[in-house]
Amino acid sequence: MALEYKYVDGIIEGFLIILPAMFANATPVIAKGKRPVDFRRNFIDGRRLLGDGKTWEGLAAGMLAGTLTGIILAVLTGNLILAYAGFIASAGAMLGDLAASFIKRRLGLSRGAPAPLLDQLNFYIGAVALLYLAGFKFTLWVFTLLAILSALLHIAANIIAHKTGLKNVPW
Ligand code: CTP
Ligand code: MG
Repeated sequence: MALEYKYVDGIIEGFLIILPAMFANATPVIAKGKRPVDFRRNFIDGRRLLGDGKTWEGLAAGMLAGTLTGIILAVLTGNLILAYAGFIASAGAMLGDLAASFIKRRLGLSRGAPAPLLDQLNFYIGAVALLYLAGFKFTLWVFTLLAILSALLHIAANIIAHKTGLKNVPW
């Protein structure tokens, strides 16, 4: 299987590649994790590295859900590369989410405080960045369209998580 892919310029193709990242991103909130990824350590500014909202259980649940989504898509479409892309997209989504929390803590924002755009797009930017490094390069219009779709789905998922009591805040 060639790891050097090509430019992803179809919206369906791009959606199938990014869908595992959406599942990876939506799952951690269900995990109710207890072990913080940063082991409760502080950064040099005296604030938490990432905070209690980023847990190992959440990471594992997200990776599992996203990777499984990729495998299912690969089986359904007969395109095995979607399983590989799904794993990469999930890992990127998790890294993007951790990076956003790191940035929020540096800005002095406490866990769960809203950070518009950063909260909605961290997983997407992380997924696209890692996919890019793996050879899956989105064209600008696919990138833009999927960014809007990702943000809208993220908002919808959080409203559902809030209404079902999984989350205290709807963002
Ligand atoms: N979560 C988790 N592990 C992760 C990501 C999320 O356990 N790696 C859970 C946490 O319970 C978190 C919830 O999912 O509170 C919602 O995730 P998110 O909105 O990303 O975290 P916040 O609590 O808003 O924290 P932050 O301010 O750092 O973004
Ligand atoms: Mg949040």
